[in-house]
Amino acid sequence: MTPVDYDRDLYRTYRTGRALAPDTGGLWMDAIAAYLGRRSARAILDLGAGTGRFSGILADAFGARVVGVEPSAKMREEAERHGAHRDVAYVGGAADAIPAADGEFDFAFLSMVIHHVGDLGACARELRRVLEPGGLVFIRNTFAGRLDRVRYFEFFPEARAADEARLPTVESVRSAFAAHGFELVALDTLEQEIDASLTAHYDRIKQRALSTFALITDAEFQAGLARMRHAADQETIPTPVLEAIDLLVLRRPSAASLLQPKLQ
Ligand SMILES: C[S@@+](CC[C@H](N)C(=O)[O-])C[C@H]1O[C@@H](n2cnc3c(N)ncnc32)[C@H](O)[C@@H]1O
Repeated sequence: MTPVDYDRDLYRTYRTGRALAPDTGGLWMDAIAAYLGRRSARAILDLGAGTGRFSGILADAFGARVVGVEPSAKMREEAERHGAHRDVAYVGGAADAIPAADGEFDFAFLSMVIHHVGDLGACARELRRVLEPGGLVFIRNTFAGRLDRVRYFEFFPEARAADEARLPTVESVRSAFAAHGFELVALDTLEQEIDASLTAHYDRIKQRALSTFALITDAEFQAGLARMRHAADQETIPTPVLEAIDLLVLRRPSAASLLQPKLQ
């Protein structure tokens, strides 16, 4: 896996280039609430919180304290500057070293993070430690082998190939977590409107705020942009751009007797 350094450039464009469309936060909060069976929580972990795109939304949706754990100092600065919320604390840390007490969180949310985690086993071990018994892990991500409904790949075939190579499969994540006692609850796919038109999507994509675009050459990026611009110019009636993102839901074992990791 090629690590992507958010401290180098991506922190500059992330917040605007990855801004959520108006209904998107609610769409994901509703999906989480359906699995929790309630609209409240004590404490939530937003692991790999980035610029805090979901942290305040989580706090508001569940009336909870949120800890946004984020390894990139520059992303944390952006979060503190633009994503400040009285119930959210942004702290340094990473998936294999979560700065939290045992059993501190009702549930964990990982949005577009799991492909950056080098050691899935260490991540599962830490999540098992910091979640309360029976606590859920919500992994919002795209996965290898499931990229057909992401619109910009139509224009950037090299980016799709890079993502197929670096993204984990659902099965690899599930089995890494199963080795630490997590059970599969669900794999859902949510369709979200990312932009109101292809022109708006072009304006977003040209900011190069997706880490995938750090993995292709400048020439490949520019050629993809030209293809996208051309297609956007043909669009006579603005048509919303939809994309499908998966939600993998896992449950931490509830009994202390299950805490011995199974070796696979
Ligand atoms: C695509 S961004 C997602 C940010 C946020 N969750 C969101 O959806 O807007 C990925 C984030 O994961 C962070 N990250 C990278 N490696 C990580 C790790 N090992 N543990 C936790 N976070 C990590 C990056 O610094 C970056 O902020």
